Amino acid sequence: MRPNMNAAKLRRLFLDFFKAHGHTEIKSASLIPENDPTCLFTTAGMHPLVPYLLGQKHPMGNRLTDVQKCLRTNDIDEVGDPFHMTFFEMLGNWSLGDYFKAEAIDMSFEFLTKELGFKADEIKVTCFAGDENAPRDQEAADLWMKHGIPEKNIYFLGKEDNWWGPAGQSGPCGPDTEMFVPVDKPDCGPDCGPTCGCGKWVEIWNNVFMQYNKTLEGKFIPLAHPNVDTGMGVERVTAFLEGFKSAYQTELFSGLFERLQQLSGNAEADYNNRSARVVVEHLRAATFLLADNVKPGNVDQAYVLRRLIRRAIREARKLGLTEAFTSQMADVVIEQYGEIYPELASHKDIIHDELDREEKQFAAALEKGTREFNKMIDRVPDFVVNKQISGKNAFNLYETYGFPIELTVEMAQERGFKVDMEGFKKAAEEHQKLSQAGAEQKFHGGLADHSEATAQLHTATHLLDQALRTILSEEVHQCGSNITAERLRFDFNWPEKMTPEQLKAVEDLVNQQIQRNLPVICEEMSIEDARKTNAIGIFENKYGERVKVYSIGDFSKEICGGPHANNTSELGHFKIVKEESSSRGIRRIKAILEK
Ligand code: ALA
Repeated sequence: MRPNMNAAKLRRLFLDFFKAHGHTEIKSASLIPENDPTCLFTTAGMHPLVPYLLGQKHPMGNRLTDVQKCLRTNDIDEVGDPFHMTFFEMLGNWSLGDYFKAEAIDMSFEFLTKELGFKADEIKVTCFAGDENAPRDQEAADLWMKHGIPEKNIYFLGKEDNWWGPAGQSGPCGPDTEMFVPVDKPDCGPDCGPTCGCGKWVEIWNNVFMQYNKTLEGKFIPLAHPNVDTGMGVERVTAFLEGFKSAYQTELFSGLFERLQQLSGNAEADYNNRSARVVVEHLRAATFLLADNVKPGNVDQAYVLRRLIRRAIREARKLGLTEAFTSQMADVVIEQYGEIYPELASHKDIIHDELDREEKQFAAALEKGTREFNKMIDRVPDFVVNKQISGKNAFNLYETYGFPIELTVEMAQERGFKVDMEGFKKAAEEHQKLSQAGAEQKFHGGLADHSEATAQLHTATHLLDQALRTILSEEVHQCGSNITAERLRFDFNWPEKMTPEQLKAVEDLVNQQIQRNLPVICEEMSIEDARKTNAIGIFENKYGERVKVYSIGDFSKEICGGPHANNTSELGHFKIVKEESSSRGIRRIKAILEK
């Protein structure tokens, strides 16, 4: 018998199980990776743990477990169907150089059978078939068989299916073994299994045996200490355990649908409705992003956030909801998830302000776009037959005014025009190619690595942080950081453009400290002790009990995971190359170290 389940119970069951097996529970890290310039978002539970999977010591030990908020944008356009999501939560357990395959599989099997109530013959698993980089994982298969999983229920698949990572362009990765359980329906045939695609077998969990570090050149270097990384998606598994096909039918979304029905007065705005699914999914994701200090804008994470909010508003209009409503939806998210993710409640005012502002701005954009649209249409003389809006013009409306293409098509129809959709797609692709080229350039050499150069820039970031606090205000704090081997990027709260004098003063102060040849010292302590030492660090949320505090002489003291230079003398000359707006109220500094 399976226990009566919901998401809250599943989270607790999982975390308590692994705590009972010697793991320490850690808090979810931010949705924004702190030091991985190759990714916009945290895409898996292992992502924030990369430095530790590569061998650094984690202050909370070498057996960890957590529920991590994640966001993936690769399927963003699919959101609306019953299955895809951008935001999701991932349960995981990690061995950082501690246990390996046997114990990982023992624990997975025990959890699936004892806690979730599956029988051995109800579980099918896949293992890595082997290739030129790594051998066939017979060991994993033997371990499953030892637990009574019949040989016929074990499948060997290649890299596309049974290999995980790295999360970014380089980093830890390895073969995995995935576990599948059946939904209540007949087999589609004698070969019904994880690969038949009939939907009977649902992937419930993934165990990754992280044995390799993939380099940027594509080499697989064995890690000195192999790790285990696992991932269980809360939404998907909750839906399965509750007997639903879609997570949208679970209590994770019911409050959001209810609020949407109240606000729209549309009783059909439920899990069966495509527009309603987009609204609840996107606004849940947007609320979490705002709680992690992302503001709507035109680049990177800020742009994704803007897109999520605007698409939600557009779909809500289809449901008949034209009033401002997004912050009332956010309230449901804050209430529902507030206990697990305290940053939601502490950002409530910001979440409201930003959503309200974005809603107003989008309304204005729609108005402007409509004016431009009308101008464009009015230029076409009446006698023209086969009236058409060119792809380029439609794309221009979209790009310049944020005017959604579906709206262009709808309004065009009303005026007897067609839209050249092929041309639109082409223009969009060309644009994407350009921005991708930009992104590649930006990330050129942008390793999520732990080279000397990044360690030095990391240390320079601490100096910059303190210098800004000294020159501008003690209220200044880090709102984001992104380091490549070539430059640092630091976001902080400050309401206006910095003056040239302020910039020079900050630069000079950092260089003075570098010239003092200050030692960089790391101490581990409890979060309470760290606070007592006046260490700065706004990322406390994600650290548990014990943290690392890095001191740079008497100048800076900051909670951080490293890595760092040993002495400021290694840093060379600090130079600010750009100061610009990142989003409202947030400035961004880019700086380099000249040798
Ligand atoms: N990192 C693995 C995943 O995301 C566990 O599936």
